[in-house]
Amino acid sequence: MKNVQKTLLAAAAVLAASTTMASAAKLTLYCSAQEDWCQSMARGFEEATGIDVNMTRKSSGETFAQVKAESSNPKGDVWWGGTGDPHLQAAEEDLTEPYVTGMRGELNDWAISQATSAGDRTIGIYSGALGYGFNSDLLKANNLPEPKCWKDLTKPEYKGHVQMANPNSSGTAYTTLATMVQLFGEDGGFDFMKALHKNINQYTKSGSAPIKAAGRGENTIGIVFMHDAVKQAVSGFPIKVVAPCEGTGYEIGSMSIIKGARNLDEAKKFYDWALTAAAQTRALEVKAYQVPSNKGAETSPSAPDLSSIKLIDYDFKKYGSSAERKRLLKKWDDEVSTLPQ
Ligand code: F6P
Repeated sequence: MKNVQKTLLAAAAVLAASTTMASAAKLTLYCSAQEDWCQSMARGFEEATGIDVNMTRKSSGETFAQVKAESSNPKGDVWWGGTGDPHLQAAEEDLTEPYVTGMRGELNDWAISQATSAGDRTIGIYSGALGYGFNSDLLKANNLPEPKCWKDLTKPEYKGHVQMANPNSSGTAYTTLATMVQLFGEDGGFDFMKALHKNINQYTKSGSAPIKAAGRGENTIGIVFMHDAVKQAVSGFPIKVVAPCEGTGYEIGSMSIIKGARNLDEAKKFYDWALTAAAQTRALEVKAYQVPSNKGAETSPSAPDLSSIKLIDYDFKKYGSSAERKRLLKKWDDEVSTLPQ
């Protein structure tokens, strides 16, 4: 009899513990910035609030596809980071939730414009310019001149030396495609992508992978956001960063609350916290050199100075629209990725 009582008591204790666990505050975070920054944000929020964070890192286009696929039964609460275009597309497709944060007064205008253009379904958290980086040792070893412009990358001497991500999965690569169309016109932009295709050794899934490979000496030139190239240089790899001579596009890295979020209160808490100067300054601990959207957050002296780079007037409204993003990706799939190399 005593044994039966003991077993019942133990079972009750397990049940009580699991009920407490089930009701503990939690948040499911989809993250599209670099893995170490995603980890730092998740742990920082846990420390600040005691809310458990379950974080997964996927590239911007992949996360958009996941949020869309899960829309009838959403599993994520907040999508933090990644290029703004797919966040804008998610807003237009009613996959994200409007939210007006009390943190607006602390943010740069470009972060607020991102929110305003999407009916407050997203907001800017950082910005950064597109460019490329190269491994100077490998360049010398191959007797190659230092490239300075976008068009240099299409020269036959760089065949097999250039890497970029696939624009379907990666926001960096979609920004590259949209930038070329804006810089050189629709036909000129696609001619550039076709000529570049001949020199590409691999289309990676994640946007920053090409410059990490260059850092390791496995690739010569990586088309990436300049801050991702700076991170490799600052970490001691022989990487030089290029702001292309023709001018370049840029991103407004964004954050959105997923429509139907199961943990909406926690999602709003994360959203507000992620916009604070203290949360954004955490970027420096992981050598994330984007420009923060909170005016009071620290920017590293190593961060590319956007005011000294020739930036195009990137049309976020157009290139973040659902129809245009789908059209450009399909055209790239049909007319560029299928070409022989
Ligand atoms: O965190 C690095 C970063 O380059 C961000 O600036 C950008 O928003 C994101 O990665 C894009 O990643 P991907 O190209 O893999 O979507």
